[in-house]
Amino acid sequence: MKSVKVGLLGLGTVGQGVATILARNGDEIARRAGCDIVIKSALVRNLGKAEALGFDGIAVTQDGKAVVTDPDIDIVVEMMGGDEPALSLVLSAIEHGKHVVTANKALIAVHGNQIFSAAADKGVVVAFEPAVAGGIPVIKAVREGLAANRIAWLAGIINGTGNFILTEMTQKGRDFADVLAEAQALGYAEADPTFDVEGIDAAHKLTILASIAFGIPLQFDAVYTEGISKVTRDDVAFAEELGYRIKHLGVAKMRDDGVELRVHPTLIPASRLIANVNGVMNAVLVQGDAVGPTMYYGPGAGSEPTGSSVVADIVDIVRTLSAAPGHRVPNLAFQSDSLSSHPALAPDAFESSYYLRLTAIDQPGVLADITRVMGELDISIEAIVQKEPVGDSVEVPVIMLTRQVREGAVNSAIAQIEKLASVKGEVTRIRMETLG
Ligand code: NDP
Ligand code: HSE
Repeated sequence: MKSVKVGLLGLGTVGQGVATILARNGDEIARRAGCDIVIKSALVRNLGKAEALGFDGIAVTQDGKAVVTDPDIDIVVEMMGGDEPALSLVLSAIEHGKHVVTANKALIAVHGNQIFSAAADKGVVVAFEPAVAGGIPVIKAVREGLAANRIAWLAGIINGTGNFILTEMTQKGRDFADVLAEAQALGYAEADPTFDVEGIDAAHKLTILASIAFGIPLQFDAVYTEGISKVTRDDVAFAEELGYRIKHLGVAKMRDDGVELRVHPTLIPASRLIANVNGVMNAVLVQGDAVGPTMYYGPGAGSEPTGSSVVADIVDIVRTLSAAPGHRVPNLAFQSDSLSSHPALAPDAFESSYYLRLTAIDQPGVLADITRVMGELDISIEAIVQKEPVGDSVEVPVIMLTRQVREGAVNSAIAQIEKLASVKGEVTRIRMETLG
């Protein structure tokens, strides 16, 4: 049986998953691919640490250029992360006629248009299944399995670390910093974990998903991004009382006037399947006009789950090596000359329902003042709850749920409510989606 040679850029959490899977399941994978897949070399910073891993036959090196220019290597797999030197090495690999697989969502979301254009010029494939939702084959599902559909919207829990933290805080009352440290030890978190906590990693993934769902260019800068760091235990508890769970969602919605691209904590009815996706698991819900709602669920991070997606991309490339470039699946699902220029909408134009929490002085007329502001801005209130004061306090939490409304109106309402003499401090705003 002939063999295909692979060069790895990175032998960390994901790289080790790939090497382990190929060592354990190589025969089975060869029966699927039609040839042996052999890792020839791997780029690392710390040679001693990599050699101690004891992977047979993999030459570890600190010379990335040697890996991407090696004439013996057919496929380069980038799993080092970050912008540079990853971008230069990937472009150099393409320049040298190598097919590329990358797990690096930051690289694809920010530099994908440039990378795909370079790959098209050289007639090579750039595959990125592991970049979105770890082990879930969601790129393949949306790009190929849903090719018949107009996709109206998608919404996903697409950061394993963030979902792990929210779940542990909610179910076990654990401390934020403590759970984050565990996610790092388990290899889930990004090298800079603020990418997980502040929603940047989810925004990278949403950028990619929205492009393949709607056939729009990758536009990371257009994604509105909010992380989980400001979600309080009180909000989690009030949401539960009202029948909702707070999840960190990436949402992409196609509208006549543009596309909503947003990543933020979201109240979801507790009865929805996606509200019950916990720990490091991810799920992406996609609404197609022909198929209806579909949901893709599985581990969103981790060594072998992500390695599973990397190896699947390698097998895909091996199977299409003999296909002419024009007959391959387009990177962003739509032919590159058929991408749409539908604009990304500004946050004030988003439409959603909202959970608002504020602290009010417990005195007559407060609720009337608040509801007057909402009424003047045409915001319908679905529910309003005033909690009991704690001890001798004269301050009470007030929670409101709105019906669907433009975000600009909600922002105006918040500004006016914060100025009321009977309201103390800032209003907390969390978006709500029924995902029906
Ligand atoms: P790790 O930090 O565990 O591994 C990174 C690897 O790349 C290490 O072998 C490191 O070498 C090497 N490396 C990094 N920078 C350089 C450099 N400048 N020169 C040479 N070698 C370098 O990262 P992960 O495996 O967790 O993640 C890799 C990529 O995969 C990232 O883009 C991440 O976002 C993505 N990803 C990660 C998932 C996960 O669950 N961890 C899931 C899905 C995607 P050394 O160890 O010697 O420093
Ligand atoms: N840090 C990422 C996460 C890795 O936690 O989801 C998978 O992309």
